[in-house]
Amino acid sequence: MKEINREELVSKYKEFLMPQVHTSYTDPLCLEKGEGEYVFDYNGKKYLDFYTGIMVVISGHCNKKVTKAVADQIEKLQHTSSFFINKPVVELAEKLAKITPGNLKQSFFVNSGSEAVEGAINLAQLHTGNSTVIGLQHGYHGRTLLSRSLTALSVWRTGATNAPDLRYTPNAYCYRCPFNTTPENCDMACARYLEQVILTQTEGKIACVIAETIQGVGGLIVPPADYFKVLSKITREYGGLLISDEVQCGFGRSGEKMFAIEHYGVEPDIIAMAKGLANGFPIGVFIAGKDVAKSFEGPSVSTFGGNPVSSAAAVANIEFLSENNILHNSKLMGEILKEKFLELQDKYDLIGDVRGKGLFWGLELVKDKKIKEPAWEETEKIMQLCKEQGLLIGRSGFSFHVLRMGPPLNITKDRIEEAVQILDRSFAKLKYT
Ligand SMILES: Cc1ncc(COP(=O)(O)O)c(C=O)c1O
Repeated sequence: MKEINREELVSKYKEFLMPQVHTSYTDPLCLEKGEGEYVFDYNGKKYLDFYTGIMVVISGHCNKKVTKAVADQIEKLQHTSSFFINKPVVELAEKLAKITPGNLKQSFFVNSGSEAVEGAINLAQLHTGNSTVIGLQHGYHGRTLLSRSLTALSVWRTGATNAPDLRYTPNAYCYRCPFNTTPENCDMACARYLEQVILTQTEGKIACVIAETIQGVGGLIVPPADYFKVLSKITREYGGLLISDEVQCGFGRSGEKMFAIEHYGVEPDIIAMAKGLANGFPIGVFIAGKDVAKSFEGPSVSTFGGNPVSSAAAVANIEFLSENNILHNSKLMGEILKEKFLELQDKYDLIGDVRGKGLFWGLELVKDKKIKEPAWEETEKIMQLCKEQGLLIGRSGFSFHVLRMGPPLNITKDRIEEAVQILDRSFAKLKYT
C-alpha cells in the first residue's frame, strides 16, 4: 500500500475541503490511530488526548466494548432509516429513558448536536403554541441556521443569523459578571434578568429557554447552584419549557451525574444530546416526557437518525460507563485536576480563572488579573507548546482565550499528572521566552 505522505495529506485537505473547515494549530495535526487516552500522528508521535475530538471520546479511543458492538452490528445490518425498526435503537431509547432525569421518556434520533437542538426547539414551539425562543449569552448550539442564530458568540455567527423570534438572556459568567457583583451577594441577578427580557422583548409568553448547563464553547462557564432554579421558574411562569443542551457537558462529563443539569436540582422538559453518547459514532437525540412528545405526532423522519451501528455503539458505551463506575471516576479525577489547576494559577499570573466540574475544565488566560484583557495569543502559544510535548488541549471563550480540557472519563491519576506537568512546563516556557 502507498505510504501516506503527511505533507500531501495536508495540501490535499486544503485543496479539496472548504476553507471554512477550521483545523487546530498553524501546522495541522493529522491523526492515524487512537488507543485509550492516546492518539498517534502519521509519524507515530503519541499525544495524550485532553480534548477527545471536542469532548466526544468519553470512554477512550477505540474502546474495546464499543468496537465489538459496532463490529458485530456492521456484520448484521448497517442502515434502516427511521421508517423501519431496528433492535439497537429500541435498546438505546429504553436506556435513555432510564438514565435521563425526571419523566423524560421518548426520544427522537438525529445525527448531530445542531439537529438535536433544532428538533428540541421545534417540539417546544409545537407543545406551547408559542414561538419565542430564548438562549443564553455566550451559548453555542451549532451551525445550522437556527442553532447558529441562537449561538451568542460573534465568532461562530458568520453567515445569516436571521432565524425568527430569538432573544438572549445573561448567562452566569461570574468572572466577568455583567451586573458587577459576586455570587455571594448577587441574588441571581443574571437569572432573574430573564423576566425583563420576556416583559420587554416578547409578547409575554415564550416557547422555551434553551441553555447549555455548562457552556463549553463559551469558555467553560459553570453557573452557581441556584441559577437554573431561578431560570426554570421564570421560564415556566411565562409558559415556556426548559431545554437543556447537554451536547457537550452530558454523559458523565460533569462528574458523578449522567447529565450536568442534575447537579442543579431542576428537571428540564427536553434534553438535547450528541457528542459523547456513542463515543465517536455520529448520533444526536432529543428526549422529552410523553406529555410533551405527544404534541407532535408527525409525520417526521430522519434518514440516518437511529442508525443501528451508531445506536449499538451508544448502547455499549452507556453500559461501559455503568459497568466501570466511570461517572464516579470523572468526579474523583476532576477533584485532582482542580487542585492541580489551582496550583498552576498560583504560579502563573496568566491564569485569571479556573473553572469546571468533573472532567470538564477551563483556564481563562488574561494579560492582567485586574483588567482581565483576554490573552488569546498566549492561549494559542500554550496549545502549541503542549502539542509539541505530546498533549492535546482545546480553546474556547468569546476571544479564544480559555484553554478547554476534557480527557476521556476513564482517565487515571498518572495521566492527569502527565498532562499537568506538560501544562506547567508550557506556562514556564512561555513566561521565560
Ligand atoms: C452545546 C453544544 N450544542 C450543540 C452543538 C452542535 O453539535 P454538532 O457540532 O454535533 O452539530 C455543540 C457543538 O460543539 C455544542 O457544544
